[in-house]
Amino acid sequence: MMKPLPLDKVYRFIEPGPVVLVTTAQGKERPNVMAMSYHMVVDDGDPPLIACMLGPWDYSYRAFRATGECVIAVPTVDLAAKVVAIGNCSGADTDKFETFGLTPLPAKMVKAPLIGECLANFECRIKDDRPVENYNMFILEVVAAWVDPERKERRVIHHRGNGTFVVDGRVLDIRKKMTKWPTYIRD
Ligand SMILES: Cc1cc2nc3c(=O)[nH]c(=O)nc-3n(C[C@H](O)[C@H](O)[C@H](O)COP(=O)(O)O)c2cc1C
Repeated sequence: MMKPLPLDKVYRFIEPGPVVLVTTAQGKERPNVMAMSYHMVVDDGDPPLIACMLGPWDYSYRAFRATGECVIAVPTVDLAAKVVAIGNCSGADTDKFETFGLTPLPAKMVKAPLIGECLANFECRIKDDRPVENYNMFILEVVAAWVDPERKERRVIHHRGNGTFVVDGRVLDIRKKMTKWPTYIRD
């Protein structure tokens, strides 16, 4: 039987994953990194477009707005505790790359660094900031992308909205039913 769900719990069922890290860098300041789970793909083509929510309460916001750039880095489950800690402190008073032992790697198209310990890194530029005023939402264009094919741990984590996480598990292969979407089943 269906029971009423408080509206402020809705997001816990559909919050998209995986949790990502977002790096920014402005001028001579040290680079910064924050955690982010409110994001979604809005175009899977070339270039890919990603919508994300990044608020002015984040110290990262300043550099993100000023440069119009960031890197979305995809951490795996081994980094889960660090990801949460990164999302619970501020770059205003903490050198997060140093504190959390992350390796900043130079990006190709943006000033923000890649994170060496992550599975994948996407260099992004703000393409559309019209939804910002109402929703703190930006549309990002991915201008370069990197993946570490050697990495053994590849399970990403999905936030359940309350500090608990779901770890990638069993893979269901239902490709044969994807008849309408053959381009999605390309490897
Ligand atoms: C799991 C998790 C997910 C988060 N998702 C977002 C998000 O989608 N958007 C956002 O603005 N902040 C999000 N945050 C909060 C920021 O990561 C947090 O405010 C962080 O301290 C900002 O760092 P900064 O002040 O150095 O920029 C999240 C935090 C955690 C722990």
